[in-house]
Amino acid sequence: MSKLLYIQASPRADRSYSRKVADSFVEAYREKHRGAEILTVDIFKKDLPPFDGEALNAKYRILHGEKLTEAERKSWRAVEALIAEFTAAEKYVFAVPMWNFGIPYRLKQYLDILVQPTYTFSYTPEEGYKGLVTDRSVFVAYARGGAYPAGTDAAGYDFQKPYLETILGFMGMSDIHSVVVEPTLQEGPDTGKVKRDEAIAKAREMAVRF
Ligand SMILES: Cc1cc2nc3c(=O)[nH]c(=O)nc-3n(C[C@H](O)[C@H](O)[C@H](O)COP(=O)(O)O)c2cc1C
Repeated sequence: MSKLLYIQASPRADRSYSRKVADSFVEAYREKHRGAEILTVDIFKKDLPPFDGEALNAKYRILHGEKLTEAERKSWRAVEALIAEFTAAEKYVFAVPMWNFGIPYRLKQYLDILVQPTYTFSYTPEEGYKGLVTDRSVFVAYARGGAYPAGTDAAGYDFQKPYLETILGFMGMSDIHSVVVEPTLQEGPDTGKVKRDEAIAKAREMAVRF
């Protein structure tokens, strides 16, 4: 049975649109796959290791084939543990709000930790960059206060969905499905709820085939 990792990137708990949609997806998935192993990670509550001096020194030392100091090794072990938790899953569900046209900073921190050469991607002059996290399925529930429909000028401001899909693709993931809830704010709460309920219905249908 596949392991599913559910990553919640909104700290708004029950008020979050992206979480409501992703929760419904996971619930429908669980109904279909009784006994499925599902790990839920709230990245605003998770103890993410800092990705600063020691971790970066370790990253660059590894790149250059140099020996790590004890402090760097300790810091890198925390990075490796997070990568191991992530890559142990075969299926991923993300609940992702738009923040300032992009993704919340805690999700960016999480990705900065995960995206490491030799762990989640490789590079050789012959083959260029290759993602190592392959044969995975991904579902993402995106929520935005405004609306960014394809083909409009607003779409050019969407650095949320294109960024997340680019970075997941860089790590090797190609089977990526999503629903977007928008606008959650711009047209008032009634429209937000209608859009949320439409997205929930779509997500539940998609979960059955996931
Ligand atoms: C810090 C912050 C920045 C935001 N920036 C944007 C933005 O750039 N564009 C937008 O349409 N909505 C923006 N919003 C609104 C959220 O996208 C909206 O409330 C969405 O429903 C959040 O997802 P959630 O309900 O899952 O938390 C922002 C909200 C916050 C808290």
